Amino acid sequence: MCGISGIISSNTITKKLLNSIQNLEYRGYDSCGMAIINSHGPVIRKNIGHVADVAEKELFLSMDGYVGIAHTRWATHGGVTPANAHPHANCDGSIAVVHNGIISNYLDLKQTLIKKRHHFISETDSEVIPHLIEEYRKGGMPLESAFSAALKELEGSFAVAMVAYEEPGRIFCAKHESPLIIGLGNNENYLGSDFNAFIEYTKDAVVMDDGEYAIISNEGYAIKRIGDGSPVLKKVMQIEWDAEMSKKGGFPHYMLKEIYEQPETVNKALAISQEAIISLARGLVDSRRAFLTGVGTTFYAAQIGQYYLASEAGLSIPAISSDEFLESTPAGEGDFVLAVSQSGETYDTLRVLREAKNRKAKTAAIVNVIGSTMARLVDTTVMQGSGPEICVISTKAALAQMVILIRTAIEAGIITGKLTPADRKAKLKQLETLPGLISDFLNEHSAFVHNLAKRQAHHHNWLYLGRGKYYPIALEAALKVKEVAYLHTEGMPAGFLKHGTIALIDEKLKCLVFVPTEKEHELYKMTMSSIEEIKARGGSVVAIHSSRAFAKSPLLDDQLLLPSAPPLVMPLVALVASQLLSYFFATTLGRNVDKPRALAKSVTVA
Ligand code: F6R
Repeated sequence: MCGISGIISSNTITKKLLNSIQNLEYRGYDSCGMAIINSHGPVIRKNIGHVADVAEKELFLSMDGYVGIAHTRWATHGGVTPANAHPHANCDGSIAVVHNGIISNYLDLKQTLIKKRHHFISETDSEVIPHLIEEYRKGGMPLESAFSAALKELEGSFAVAMVAYEEPGRIFCAKHESPLIIGLGNNENYLGSDFNAFIEYTKDAVVMDDGEYAIISNEGYAIKRIGDGSPVLKKVMQIEWDAEMSKKGGFPHYMLKEIYEQPETVNKALAISQEAIISLARGLVDSRRAFLTGVGTTFYAAQIGQYYLASEAGLSIPAISSDEFLESTPAGEGDFVLAVSQSGETYDTLRVLREAKNRKAKTAAIVNVIGSTMARLVDTTVMQGSGPEICVISTKAALAQMVILIRTAIEAGIITGKLTPADRKAKLKQLETLPGLISDFLNEHSAFVHNLAKRQAHHHNWLYLGRGKYYPIALEAALKVKEVAYLHTEGMPAGFLKHGTIALIDEKLKCLVFVPTEKEHELYKMTMSSIEEIKARGGSVVAIHSSRAFAKSPLLDDQLLLPSAPPLVMPLVALVASQLLSYFFATTLGRNVDKPRALAKSVTVA
């Protein structure tokens, strides 16, 4: 989504503000801008393009001042144009505002303001905010009251920051359903959509809640309720993440760095207390009905949870994509909803959890971002501890979520009696082999994966197929290829193929098949049948598999041979292989790996 930052200081802030918005660029990157207050008022500079390019073109560093706000945009209302970039100003340019979220009643507000002779420049919903504030100011209201009166008129979601010429020593900001965090420094305070905005400058932070606004000066801050202006006291929290964790550390891209960090993030997932995992398992087993949810990659992680809960605990717990959850699944009292989310800010998933809470269901979440809305909303939170994931494409966070869900399934198996303590011990031992397997694979097989990508990247249409646990893996692997390499890749259960899609098979359509271990007899045989069916129709098969015997099969057009691993963890090894393949597809095709077109790291709108 969009990234917002702000700094107010007793020293000049331009460089820091630019750095801050660069660190938020992964949230959205079609355009950006800054507003800095100087003796003439807020000076606004903005344009389309990545922050580094816009900063150079618009001479950001030549702006000087002690207070400023900045924005990096992921377009929702209005195309990618300089006029639609933030900050937006009121008619006389004395107020500058940046906004993340969607003002759903902006058309009505805009019509009313136009009738009152306000002049609009952009097509955005956000531009109504400075004009509304200006309208209240015209009536003689003090700035703070005008700011909060304007907020009360907004419907939808917003994180807003404002600077105004008449009060150069304060940043005003507000939050409703879009994240906003205040950072506390020495004679210098910060504002950001997430910690990355200011983690290089301070680790002390205050997380704002929905329905609150704040006034920040260089000496302090005050948080109040939008509804009645009453003060809110908050706990200052310490950010555990380190600024270095958010750097590329010698890797050409964050995506590659984060793929290589996976042995460590799996170890962190394995180190989560058994007590925390049991609390998730208890919720799933003890409730009237239980559901897993997430969206995009986290839906596929939830599906992995579904399959392991079936195999390890004998439970039937559906995973439902959060964007479709409420329309398909009325969860209520006695039910348990377990959500999965890297950012903890995803609109679709938060919507499910809020509604579940309203209907008195119990809620839980596996979340990566500390202090995120989801982490604070649900009854039970398990922090996955994967560290900052900067690449827009999720890799390490997703793998860690899957590991946590597998651990949950094993604990659920103990509760349902499907597993004995000895089984649990053996299974956890198998899971513990995963970091070593991944690190060996990455160190020893990366060149093979790169060569496979170079041979295959020119194929524009792919089917990614898998059965059982390899089905959600195929879906997640296909999503990675779409997102980062822009190749049309459809993930599908291998068994589903023959029920229609098989009509597409020809020599041009590439089929990548995730083959289970030979130990999973039935599944292995059935996957082989699907491969035979593809070959019988002149199709082309690339397999990701671990069978030394199958490696010699004439059915294969190309392949990636995985190291041997226990069936419990092999799907995750295959996933890592597919992540690396997507990465090399993208680099072979010259894609912008860390900032693929049209995407944003955390999608906080409907
Ligand atoms: C894919 C990806 C997205 C997210 C989805 C949910 O690489 O990153 O599909 O998984 O937008 O986001 P979170 O996990 O933040 O709730």
